[in-house]
Amino acid sequence: MPAFSISKQALAGTAVLGAAFAAGVFIGKKCTALHFGTKKLRKTLGEKDDPLTDYVLRHSLREHPMLKKLKLRTMEEPEGMMMVCCDQAQLMANLAKLISAKKVIEIGVFTGYNTLNMALALPDDGKVVGCEVNNDYVSIGIPFWKEAGVEHKIDLRIKPAVETLDELLAAGEAGTYDFAFIDADKKSYNEYYEKCIRLVRKGGIIAIDNVLLNGKVLKPNKKDMDWQAIQHLNEKILRDARVNISMITMADGITFAFKL
Ligand SMILES: C[S@@+](CC[C@H](N)C(=O)[O-])C[C@H]1O[C@@H](n2cnc3c(N)ncnc32)[C@H](O)[C@@H]1O
Ligand SMILES: *[C@@H]1O[C@H](CO)[C@@H](O)[C@H](O)[C@H]1NC(C)=O
Repeated sequence: MPAFSISKQALAGTAVLGAAFAAGVFIGKKCTALHFGTKKLRKTLGEKDDPLTDYVLRHSLREHPMLKKLKLRTMEEPEGMMMVCCDQAQLMANLAKLISAKKVIEIGVFTGYNTLNMALALPDDGKVVGCEVNNDYVSIGIPFWKEAGVEHKIDLRIKPAVETLDELLAAGEAGTYDFAFIDADKKSYNEYYEKCIRLVRKGGIIAIDNVLLNGKVLKPNKKDMDWQAIQHLNEKILRDARVNISMITMADGITFAFKL
């Protein structure tokens, strides 16, 4: 294989996966079946063909073998679709490297796909603080972190994320983090954002997930607490002079806030 070529195995392609989805309950679904599996799976989910997304994934995704293994394991879970989208994770790893990130906060670890993704992107003395309340999800991911040889970079805190962020602030770590990913309960997004603004350094990045709420941002519903939380934060960040921003339509919508 020529040196400039990426192995076939590293390319996610349209390989494997399947039945796990069929019976699944897709809480917080954010990626199309395309991001995870086969055309058959797309049919099962009743999704329309999306040849352009298909093309984008086939021509850009270079998934680390351990990430791929963890993804397949995650898809065996009924809530598997809560996982971050692979192309999104790849973008965040590229951004983290671009700013030479060493310290990262992950709010909502789930089975740890993006936690592993970030740990792989960091130097050996880098660290990812992983915030999660559900130990069962995390315990699925830990063996994969170990096998990838990056477990030492992951500082896992099993408790409500707000408590962990407060601990980091109390420990004098304000302004020392390079990258934060907000991907947990929507009602606390504003609080997470405010704490991350303090924890992240100038020039650091806060990535906020699900900012399009599966299109629900276009259907105002004051009784929907998720809608309220996301709508409020989207409006606020638009006017927030502490950051420069980009909101992109990848996955379920991501806002990147660049701290000034
Ligand atoms: C969408 S999933 C995160 C996906 C993950 N970032 C990944 O890479 O696949 C959201 C996670 O947030 C967790 N969560 C919910 N409320 C939380 C809280 N208050 N503090 C920390 N984690 C929380 C859930 O248990 C769930 O695992
Ligand atoms: C932030 O955005 C403003 C206006 O677009 C621009 O002038 C400025 O250079 C940006 N700052 C950084 C640090 O990128």
